[in-house]
Amino acid sequence: MAKPFKRLLLTGAAGGLGKVLRDRIKPWADVVVLSDIADMGEAREGEEIVQCDLADKAAVMKMMEGVDAVLHFGGISTENTFENIMQANILGTANIYEAAHKKGVKRIVFASSNHTVGFYRNTDYIDAAAPTRPDSFYGVSKCFGEQLASYYWDRTGLETVSLRIGSSFPEPKDRRMMVTWLSYDDLVEALRRSLFATRVGFTILFGMSDNEVAWWDNSKASHLGYKPKDSSSQFDANFPDSGEYPDKNASVTYHGGAFALAEVRYKD
Ligand SMILES: NC(=O)c1ccc[n+]([C@@H]2O[C@H](COP(=O)([O-])OP(=O)(O)OC[C@H]3O[C@@H](n4cnc5c(N)ncnc54)[C@H](O)[C@@H]3O)[C@@H](O)[C@H]2O)c1
Repeated sequence: MAKPFKRLLLTGAAGGLGKVLRDRIKPWADVVVLSDIADMGEAREGEEIVQCDLADKAAVMKMMEGVDAVLHFGGISTENTFENIMQANILGTANIYEAAHKKGVKRIVFASSNHTVGFYRNTDYIDAAAPTRPDSFYGVSKCFGEQLASYYWDRTGLETVSLRIGSSFPEPKDRRMMVTWLSYDDLVEALRRSLFATRVGFTILFGMSDNEVAWWDNSKASHLGYKPKDSSSQFDANFPDSGEYPDKNASVTYHGGAFALAEVRYKD
């Protein structure tokens, strides 16, 4: 059976989520173009490998040739100096958008982050219309990526789903992640919906599983039809409730957890 895309580009392919996605996105494209600044090993069947820096505009332009859709996961994924964030996440994402526009790509799924809204408190329940409240230079760079998505949609018709990933790991590592957890299966389902929904325009989707407590309302992305199947409640026993609400544990005071805490402020 013919696959939906001829060429699907995955940036950040050497990263934690990139490794998870590498095999799981194969059914969607004849060729998956895997890209990262780091080594990705040998290309396997149905893969092409492009090792480059996203800040290198000419390389990104070349890599985008013939690509139908992009899963943009590459970049710095935690707090860092503004200079480093600027190269990888701001310049890098701008290069991805300009190349995608120039090469006629129809849709991008942008790996955005809960850190775009990290300074909301655990007593706040927000949807995609809530103003951003980034908790780090990293969070600011993801806000910039979302604004690029908005600009390119309005200006050129290039569609984006900005997937504000909560915490996508095999299992929650702390109490905050009981709220923000996104299982790998649900991540893949969110990407599938984002790539194959008829029309997405500029959509923001909070990337979370069907957890018992939620800080985010996905009703503004209902046209995607994303329905998570997993829940962090299977890990309840790992994190006994303190009985206090709001929780006294500082990492669950803010949506962004430790990123919002002063001591995490990046120091040169
Ligand atoms: N894992 C999560 O729970 C989570 C949560 C929120 C957002 N995200 C976002 O999802 C994406 C993937 O996350 P991850 O956990 O796999 O992160 P990761 O750090 O493991 O992977 C990111 C990859 O991007 C590559 N990269 C960094 N700078 C680059 C550059 N200048 N040019 C090309 N490649 C570069 C790195 O080499 C790395 O392999 C990131 O954009 C991250 O911000 C992840």
